[in-house]
Amino acid sequence: MNKNLLRVEKYEPEVEALIDEVVDGFTSRQKQLPCKLFYDKEGSSLFDEICTLDEYYLTRTERAIMRDNIGAIANTIGENSLLIELGSGSSRKIRLLLDNLKNPAGYVPIDISEEHLVDSVRSLANDYPDLRIMPVYADYTQLVKFPDFDFPYSRKVVYYPGSTIGNFSPPAARRFMKNIAGWSGRGSGLLIGVDLVKDKGVLERAYNDGRGVTAKFNLNILKRLNREIGTDFNLGKWEHYARYDSSKNRIEMHLRSLADQMVHVNGSVFGVKRGETILTEYSYKYTLKGFKELVSGSFAVEKVWTDVDMNFSVQYLTVL
Ligand code: AVI
Repeated sequence: MNKNLLRVEKYEPEVEALIDEVVDGFTSRQKQLPCKLFYDKEGSSLFDEICTLDEYYLTRTERAIMRDNIGAIANTIGENSLLIELGSGSSRKIRLLLDNLKNPAGYVPIDISEEHLVDSVRSLANDYPDLRIMPVYADYTQLVKFPDFDFPYSRKVVYYPGSTIGNFSPPAARRFMKNIAGWSGRGSGLLIGVDLVKDKGVLERAYNDGRGVTAKFNLNILKRLNREIGTDFNLGKWEHYARYDSSKNRIEMHLRSLADQMVHVNGSVFGVKRGETILTEYSYKYTLKGFKELVSGSFAVEKVWTDVDMNFSVQYLTVL
């Protein structure tokens, strides 16, 4: 093993806990499944593919904002900081920061997909042989304490790109931000990508791409549940459905039943009507003002960078 691969902390999602979550989600009036289930190996690759789609403006716009402002962003983060990436996936985005930061003290990628984490850390370690890399295999939403590292650094800077914060409901996002502020500590920084409110047509195209990759990504949840907890979803009887609700500033992603059918989940049977849906994801969009208010209990917004069309923002916040 490469000497700068310090550790992989283990995290095994429990089958029992997963069954409970699915049963709970199916018991509520609007059936739902947690969006973290998207990211098994196949789902993570499908998500990587989504990020390359023309319709999915988020990734390329965020990348352009980062590239256009990388000098200012690197100055704001400062020297010798410890970079912590939440949901690091293939660790591609961090490279621009690593190439431009002065003496980063280390990089802590945290991800729920073990395969993604191991592959990406291996390739980073090759390309940045002097960088300390401490991968953590975990559900970062559950992190309450940050590991103690015995080397010096000026401050922790959490990197949370991609507008993943939009996948939390606003109250949950507020709690999660408070949680990050708690374990990272006063004076720590947070560099975060936040998707902005915009034209409904642009948003709906981004979540209903022409090649059907988002549909595959959505349906993959059912495939995963069949494999991991023995449910009997018939994938031919479900379709992808996504719409923007402008009164709530959110994309809602659902799986819609194409027939009256039964689904078995570990001994429980659920009837589903034709046209009924399972909610799989919310993707909230923010105004700059709305996001500032959302984080105001835990963070101060120090800097905001956007593209000229104000489609997306990259923001630097500090823990109060
Ligand atoms: C990860 N997250 C920010 C994506 C989003 O846009 O909400 C997930 C996604 N869902 C459908 N397409 C992409």
